Amino acid sequence: MLISTLLLRALSCSACQWKSLQGSKVGYCKGLFFPGLDKPGNTSNPLGSKVTPVFVMQLSGLNTLGVSIARIDFAPGGQNPPNTHPRAAEILTVLEGTLYVGFVTSNPDNRLISRTLKKGDVLAIPQGFIHFQQNVGYGNAVAPATFGSQIPGVITIANAMFGANPPISDAVHAKAFQIDKKLVDKLQSSFWMIINNF
Ligand SMILES: *[C@@H]1O[C@H](CO)[C@@H](O)[C@H](O)[C@H]1NC(C)=O
Repeated sequence: MLISTLLLRALSCSACQWKSLQGSKVGYCKGLFFPGLDKPGNTSNPLGSKVTPVFVMQLSGLNTLGVSIARIDFAPGGQNPPNTHPRAAEILTVLEGTLYVGFVTSNPDNRLISRTLKKGDVLAIPQGFIHFQQNVGYGNAVAPATFGSQIPGVITIANAMFGANPPISDAVHAKAFQIDKKLVDKLQSSFWMIINNF
């Protein structure tokens, strides 16, 4: 009941914003404008990267529109670790720098599709596939990622597996990854940072 009420309210809100844009007497719509994506994210962290999202949480007018964007910054050597978006395909565009990027297809092939992208190159990432980017150039890199959802969601693989709270049992991990429990404990006690906090 509460959820459907909220959803209805959100839907009508977005529809009236859209109407007022088309009628355009207002000429300006709150919730459809987001400034500042020219500013680099702070990459001073162990992964050397930072995602700045502009999803429906940051830009309410995206609600029901089915699109969103994020800016990804990379220090030299910086990485956006293997992750997947359950609700969206992605297009990554390199604006500066050189990125080694890849994604892995599903079972049974698990085929790695990878490329080194330079400025101006675009990569499409199918919905749900596990993908990663690493800066292999000498300078910083910046790559906007656009999504076919206003809230694509993100699952960072290492965090989900070894940073799960409460932890997944040693026995499950030991069998799944064919490693001993000592290594499981080591991985589980590591710090799995989140650079894409959305
Ligand atoms: C970037 O992040 C680091 C680590 O959290 C912090 O020490 C530093 O002050 C930040 N730099 C800027 C410009 O915000």
